[in-house]
Formats: sequence, C-alpha cells, structure tokens
Amino acid sequence: MDRDWLDELLAKTDLVQLVSKYVQLTKKGNSYWGCCPFHHEKTPSFSVSADKQVYYCFGCKESGNAITFVKKIESVESADAIKLLAEAAHMPVPEYKGDKKSADLKNKRERLSALMREAALHYHENIYTPGAKAALAYAEERQITSMIKKFGLGYSLGNREIIDYLETKGFTPAEMKEAGIAEQSGDTYYDVFMNRLMIPIINPYGNVIAFGGRLLEKDSKFAKYRNSCQTVLFDKSKVLFALNLVKKKKQREHLDSIIVTEGYMDTISLFKAGFDNVVASMGTSLTLDQAKLLKNYCNKIYISYDGDGAGQKATLRGLDILESVGLNVRVVPLAGGMDPDDVIKREGAAGYKALLDKAVTLTTFKINNLASQYDLSDPDGNSKFAVEAVKVIKKLDNPVEQEEYLMQVHNLTGYSMAVLYKQAELYEEPKIESEPKREPSRRDALTAATDFVLASLINEKPYADFNFDVVPYLTGDNEREAYRLALEKYKMKYSLQSLFNRADERYADYVSGLVNYDFVPGDDRKKFEECVYLIKRRSLEVEKGKLEAEYEATKNIEILSKLKDIEKKLTQMRKSGGFIS
Ligand code: UTP
Ligand code: MN
Repeated sequence: MDRDWLDELLAKTDLVQLVSKYVQLTKKGNSYWGCCPFHHEKTPSFSVSADKQVYYCFGCKESGNAITFVKKIESVESADAIKLLAEAAHMPVPEYKGDKKSADLKNKRERLSALMREAALHYHENIYTPGAKAALAYAEERQITSMIKKFGLGYSLGNREIIDYLETKGFTPAEMKEAGIAEQSGDTYYDVFMNRLMIPIINPYGNVIAFGGRLLEKDSKFAKYRNSCQTVLFDKSKVLFALNLVKKKKQREHLDSIIVTEGYMDTISLFKAGFDNVVASMGTSLTLDQAKLLKNYCNKIYISYDGDGAGQKATLRGLDILESVGLNVRVVPLAGGMDPDDVIKREGAAGYKALLDKAVTLTTFKINNLASQYDLSDPDGNSKFAVEAVKVIKKLDNPVEQEEYLMQVHNLTGYSMAVLYKQAELYEEPKIESEPKREPSRRDALTAATDFVLASLINEKPYADFNFDVVPYLTGDNEREAYRLALEKYKMKYSLQSLFNRADERYADYVSGLVNYDFVPGDDRKKFEECVYLIKRRSLEVEKGKLEAEYEATKNIEILSKLKDIEKKLTQMRKSGGFIS
C-alpha cells in the first residue's frame, strides 16, 4: 500500500467523527472522551485526540489511529479497514503496486476464494438432486432440514463430480488441491470429501474458506468429520464456525454474549432452536487467536462443550485463554456424555435455556471439576481436594472473590473458613512498618530515560533534537526502530498517526506507547539532556563490564586498549558534565 496514499486517507478521515459512530464522545479540553468499545467499563477512559488523530484507552491500553480502530471494531483485517475508510473518504483504492510476492499471494487468495465459492454453491445444489437422497434423509433424521439454506449445507456426489464441475468453471485440479478440496493420487485427482454432508466454513467477510464434511453412515472406519487442510485461506486456529452469522446478528442488534460449542452440529442445532449467538471451535481447545476474535464481538462467553472427559479438559484450557484476554466466562453444565445438540433434542430450547441460566464462573467450574476427582466422604480425599481447590482460589487477586469461593469449598468439605484461610495463607500479617521504598533499579532508570528521549523525539517536543546521536547506545530492537521512525517522521514531515502504519508490527506496541507518552509539566531541555547522558553513560558502563570480563579471561592486549578508550570516554563525560562527541 502506497504510504503517501495512506497518509492522504488518514488526513481525510476525522477520527473523532469516525469513533462517534460507535462511541458517545464528550469533549474535554483538546480530547474527546467516552466508554471504551474494546473493554467493558462504566466510566469513560477512552480518549480521542483531535490534534494527533489517535486514540488511547487508559483502561485497556488499546491505542492507534483510524485504521487500527476500524480493524478492531469491525473485526476486519487491515486491507478491509482501509477499504472501508477509503469508501467513506471517497478515495479510490489504488491498484496494488507492492512487491511481487504479496501481489501473487493476493491473486492466489482471490482465485481460490472464487473456487471455494463455486464449490460451495455446487455442493449445495447437489443436495437437492436425486443422487443426494441419503444426505437429505440424514438432514431430516437430524432435524436440520430447515437449516440447509441458512448454513449453505451441501453434499459431495462422489469421486470426481466436483472436480469435473469446477474444471468447466475454469479451475485446475492443482488449484482445487491448493484449496483443500482435491487430493492427488498419481496423475488423478479425487474429491477429499466424497459422499459427505458438506458444511461450508464462511468467514465474517462472507467468503467460503473451508469445509467440514460429515459421513452419513453411523459406523465407518473413516473419521466422522473431515475438515479442509490448512490453505492460504484457512487456518483452523484462527477461525470459528458460524462467526459470519454472529457478525450479522451483531450488526442488527446488541450482542450480549456468544455461546461457544465444540461441534458443527451443536451450533446448527442451537441456531435452529433460536440461540443464534453461537459458534463452534471445531473440536480443538480454543486458541489465543480465537479468544481475541471473540473479544472483538462481545465480552461474555458461554462455553458449552460436551459433558465428557475430553470436553472437560478442553474446556479448562479454553477457559483460561478466554479469561486471559479479559472475557467474562461462564461454563454451561452438561451431564456426562451429552452435547448441546442432545439437550435440544431431549429437552428443547427451554431445557437448554435452563442450562444457560445455571452456567457457572470459571472458578466454580474448576472447583466442581476438582471435587469430582476426589472422594469427599473420605478424610484423605476431602483434605486433598481442599488443598487443591485453595490453590485455585489463591490465584484470584480480589479478596472478595477469594472469600466467595472459599465459602464454596467450606460448603463442600465442611472445613471452617478460618482453616481454609490459613491453608491459603490469606491472613496477611498486619503490616507494622510500611515497606521501605524500593530504589528504582539502574535498569528502570535507563528504561525511563530511553522512553522519555524517544517519546520526546517522536512527539517533536521543542526541547528535543536529533543532534545527540543516541543510536549506538540503544540496546533494544524496538528502541532502534522507534528512533528510526522518529527520524523518518521528522525528515519527511510524516504525521504522528501515520507511525502506526509505518512501524513494523513487532514494535507497534512499543511505538504506540511512545506516541501516547504521558509528558509532565516539568519536562524540559535539561531533563532531555540528562536522559541522553544517562543512556550514553549506562551503555558505556555495560560495554566496559563486558570488556573487563573478556580481558580477565583472555588477557588480550587489544581488549585492554578498547577498555582504556571506554574509560577515557567515561572520564571525559564526567568532566564535561555529560557530553561526548
Ligand atoms: P463431536 O463428535 O462432538 O461433533 O466433535 P458433533 O458436532 O457433536 O458431531 P455429531 O453430532 O456426531 O455429528 C466435535 C467437533 O470435532 C471435530 C468437528 O469439528 C466436530 O464438529 N471433529 C470430530 C473432527 O474434526 N473430526 C472427527 O472425526 C470428529
Ligand atoms: Mn453431536
């Protein structure tokens, strides 16, 4: 993407106006404030700077420019965020002139995407043909006939049917293989999903990116489900089945929560029963990418996994990941061996709704899960359970919460609260003296100085300039990248907000921290110079330490002379009040 074009796009976009479409903003001074759309809060800590055209949340630390905002709030990738902004700004998106490799990849994705769309349409049409009677009967038996259109379900008629069809549409078998539909055996290609009920996996932009295929037979030596392999379109760890439908729902109305199931059929069955805020993680335990994806949509997740052993283990892992991104997690209790689809079949929507109402928090789920592993009627089992449960509770950082769950353990085990507190060592000795204030370590001071210098340069503070070349003294990659960006911005007169696009993704967090640096009134030239001095001196000292050790080990005369040089520089610094050329 052409950077000048991007700068123009950002210049034409008013971030305050853009954010206002999603968040109610109030003007205070030079900034606009509102409740953060990226985490749950009641008092506004989300700020938009009209001057800088950047946003920053003091609560969850999300920050960025118009592009990152659209990306996050619309749950789309950069390219789509840019397209959306370009449309609003009435700027045609220029033809991609990037390097050949990424242009090729883009062409490939478009080509395979078109292929997958044709395939999904064709599989879907197939299901109504005479050859697919068994598939229709299967859908009927599973009571999902009315969901065939909604989910675009289909059927693979056989060995080569889809391959011949797609060839008439101009696609090659090699491309079908790349899309994960065809497999090759010698010179011939065949349909990976032969005679399976086809479930298209559609991403939130409406593109078919993969398939799940279910066998119709009950007992077979083949796997019950086959999923597309990883392709340029599909990475299972970053996808949730039916998220496209949840996205549509969110665009229609307020989305309070999302139910996460393990299976395609659970999702389809719940959807049919009226729970249309449902997705499937497709068998595996949730990944961090999937958790972040969910976080883009809402803050509350109901985990509705199977009530079997495997499901429970997957649940535990998934839960921690969900909580780690700040989602509010509830676990829907399911009796052993049942899955959500079974509940709908046996007890209907009302039965499932009752389970949702009984959903428990992560900690309760963990405690109950532990309790089921011990015999609480046996003194040994009872005490072992209490010890383990208390370990879980100790990890909570809120004393009120701890008390809440210790009470649950008390009710389960009969141990007194006092004993449980003792076990948790939650009784903290009353502090007689306040802890001696820790001297900030040398490392802390260096970090603070470096951040201040880089932030001043990036924000082009009047007291900051590039004459003190600190580059050789910067130790981290992110620091060097930030300096490079600051210099480039200064020379090329780039806007502050454009840095978010210029920064290498690996360093984007660090750079955005600098852009949003909290300057204080006392910041001035003197502080800037002192910080530069500190950076240089500390880096020389570190170098000196290394050389000393090296000299000790080798007694190499060259190292000794380098060491003398550094010592000379350090003495010079001290004498001159800090500055060396
Ligand atoms: P389940 O066996 O719980 O799926 O596997 P389900 O949806 O309830 O299946 P039905 O009701 O028997 O049709 C959960 C998920 O694990 C994946 C699929 O994504 C499935 O939906 N899975 C399961 C596979 O990928 N391959 C398999 O052989 C089985
Ligand atoms: Mn099932």
